[in-house]
Amino acid sequence: MPFRPQIDLDRPVRDRLVLRTVPGAVDYLVEDLRALPATILRREPDRLLVEYTGALRPLAASRYFDICAVEDTDPVEGGALAALQPDGPVRFRVGTGVPDRWKVRDQLAERYGWVNDPRSWDVNVEPHGAELGALYLTQRFGELRRTPASTNPLVGAVMVRLAKIAPGQVVVDPFCGAGTLLVLAGEMAAPGRLVGADAQARWLAMAADNARRRDLAIGLVRADARALPLRRADRVVANLPFGKRVGTHRVNEELYPGALREIARVLPGGGRAVLLTDDKRLFRETVQRTPLLRVIKEVVLARGGLHPSVYVVAKRGR
Ligand SMILES: C[S@@+](CC[C@H](N)C(=O)[O-])C[C@H]1O[C@@H](n2cnc3c(N)ncnc32)[C@H](O)[C@@H]1O
Repeated sequence: MPFRPQIDLDRPVRDRLVLRTVPGAVDYLVEDLRALPATILRREPDRLLVEYTGALRPLAASRYFDICAVEDTDPVEGGALAALQPDGPVRFRVGTGVPDRWKVRDQLAERYGWVNDPRSWDVNVEPHGAELGALYLTQRFGELRRTPASTNPLVGAVMVRLAKIAPGQVVVDPFCGAGTLLVLAGEMAAPGRLVGADAQARWLAMAADNARRRDLAIGLVRADARALPLRRADRVVANLPFGKRVGTHRVNEELYPGALREIARVLPGGGRAVLLTDDKRLFRETVQRTPLLRVIKEVVLARGGLHPSVYVVAKRGR
């Protein structure tokens, strides 16, 4: 999707914006918006409609939305579409779900001199509004390489927030895959050390590549999460195999107890782990059976037809 994201983030705008997120992450987006010139007009499970008055730069810094669309496709003076700064005319595409698609396409070209270019666009017109390519999550923070089971970066941002990483802490992901959660931890907090383990060398190579791209130091080791070559981790963050796309429920019955025992071993008293899974009953029962661990919070998130939960698990003691 080679669009050309050029926008003036410092130009004050006044517009109605649709911010898309994932069910379960809306509260975190609302929290970010409290500090911004935004009034929430409507709240839905996976999006907010806001009246925004000001420069877009602080909005662009939020990790809790992936798409920003201007509700009214017609560019108004002083609106967010007017902040676009393409080299030439604005290029756009119209999504297949838009009613009267071809009419909309012709009107935008005729009225505003926009150029229809489905292969290289600044604006993607969809039923909920005109999406600004420049404000896609991947454009704002950069693309990461992904495995087929990589963690959605919005979900990952919620997990890192729940981990409450203090400066200098050691953060470990024993199922790190391409390292998404460690990259987010490195960018959203100030950890002292980031360490990732995974059973598969090919995913570790991808994680190393992602760390390089983001200029982060991440220690990577090929290891089984049930036997980590580590003494201590202040925080553990991990997207566990759900037993659907990765692994099976049967495998998890053996994997979860071993992995949680290891997490209990490496965490100090008062340490916390933030773990994502869809194999919820098995997970909760296993935590109950693991000495010193307890679930202190559960957040249900949804993406791609799945409704996994993020569990915040604390280790007893100080
Ligand atoms: C859901 S994915 C993690 C995705 C990762 N957070 C990312 O963004 O790419 C689960 C990972 O656990 C790894 N894995 C499965 N069993 C494992 C085990 N016993 N020990 C260590 N890693 C394991 C898989 O190779 C896979 O990369």
